[in-house]
Amino acid sequence: MALANRKILLIIAGGIAAFKSLDLIRRLREQGASVTPVLTRAAEEFVTPLSASALAAQKVYRDLFDLTDEAEMGHIELSRAADLVVVAPATADLMAKMAGGHANDLASTLLMATDKRVLIAPAMNVRMWTHPATQRNLATLRGDGVLVVGPDDGEMACGEFGPGRMAEVPDIVAAIDAALGHGPLTGRRVIVTSGPTHEPIDPVRYIANRSSGAQGTALAAALRDLGAEVVFVTGPATVPPPAGVQVVAVETAMQMQDAVTSALPADAAIFAAAVADWRMDKAHGSKLKKSRDGLPVLDFAENPDILAGVAQMKAGRPRLVVGFAAETDDVARHATEKRARKGCDWIVANDVSPETGIMGGTENAVMLITEDGAETWPRLPKAQVATRLAARIADALAQRGA
Ligand code: C5P
Repeated sequence: MALANRKILLIIAGGIAAFKSLDLIRRLREQGASVTPVLTRAAEEFVTPLSASALAAQKVYRDLFDLTDEAEMGHIELSRAADLVVVAPATADLMAKMAGGHANDLASTLLMATDKRVLIAPAMNVRMWTHPATQRNLATLRGDGVLVVGPDDGEMACGEFGPGRMAEVPDIVAAIDAALGHGPLTGRRVIVTSGPTHEPIDPVRYIANRSSGAQGTALAAALRDLGAEVVFVTGPATVPPPAGVQVVAVETAMQMQDAVTSALPADAAIFAAAVADWRMDKAHGSKLKKSRDGLPVLDFAENPDILAGVAQMKAGRPRLVVGFAAETDDVARHATEKRARKGCDWIVANDVSPETGIMGGTENAVMLITEDGAETWPRLPKAQVATRLAARIADALAQRGA
């Protein structure tokens, strides 16, 4: 059974399509999943808690401030006990709440509190679906990493025709299956480093760089989407980490190295972090003061090269080690030299000269340096660079065997 032992929190919002969600509960249970239903207040106008509970063979959580529920299982715990949160049907109103970060009832609070992936199956009138507000919310939700199945085109309960009908139950089950990681990287463990590092000078000052963590974050999400178990070791980035990955938050290069070492062994390790090359030889324990004796002298020490350390491991080296190279000139030559010097399999190189707007921007133009030479990729949104790279990583791991 494809979904054996998988736990699904199913939020049913108030729409005509809610009746199909009862069938969804059935199909998911046939596949071996356990389903915990949550009904919004409006959903109860369309299906009864009793029918959802009977089909799920579980207690139904309802959008009421029910003290008994809180005592049995708090909403935080409820939102995290699942492997996946599914919203079917997702109404225009619930999508708007999700996009706006509201948490004013049980369903929206669970969606805010969860650390798991969320899949929505929108269902609404065609005009509501095509309304710019809904499309704006949809784009926001996609950007937040929410997965979307449907809606389908077709005749709707309200008599109109067009997109807005909830996806058919088998399609929702297939999307759930894919979201639970039945992709080419299922069973593979991948470490991704991302973001800048901060190297303290004293308790209030530090050395940093302009990395936003956007490319590393997009890559972690793309690898997760292919089914990988991702350990995401991130410095203090400006973009939030993706859902559904194991986040290890660090600050300094030394902490990043420790986190990577603890996360090994792995099938692949991708070093997208912009690690500071130097740290203070000795960070000051108290805040440096202005003094009449002149300017402070900062003594630097070199940070360990985390990528080179892993790439040159004698035993237990990941089968694929990928580094990044931010260059401002002669990108192919410098990146090719870097690949050889560090001993990694691939280098993803990009031109970060200020005029490209790549550092801290939303697009990236990369060159992939492998054992076969250099490939130039077109300028693409960072999310698409990530999808392409994740697909290449999946191919490479498949070729390199288990
Ligand atoms: O030598 P350079 O800093 O340009 O190399 C960049 C690549 O090496 C990136 O993949 C980066 O994550 C990695 N790196 C590292 N540890 C360092 C410096 C760079 O892992 N101390």
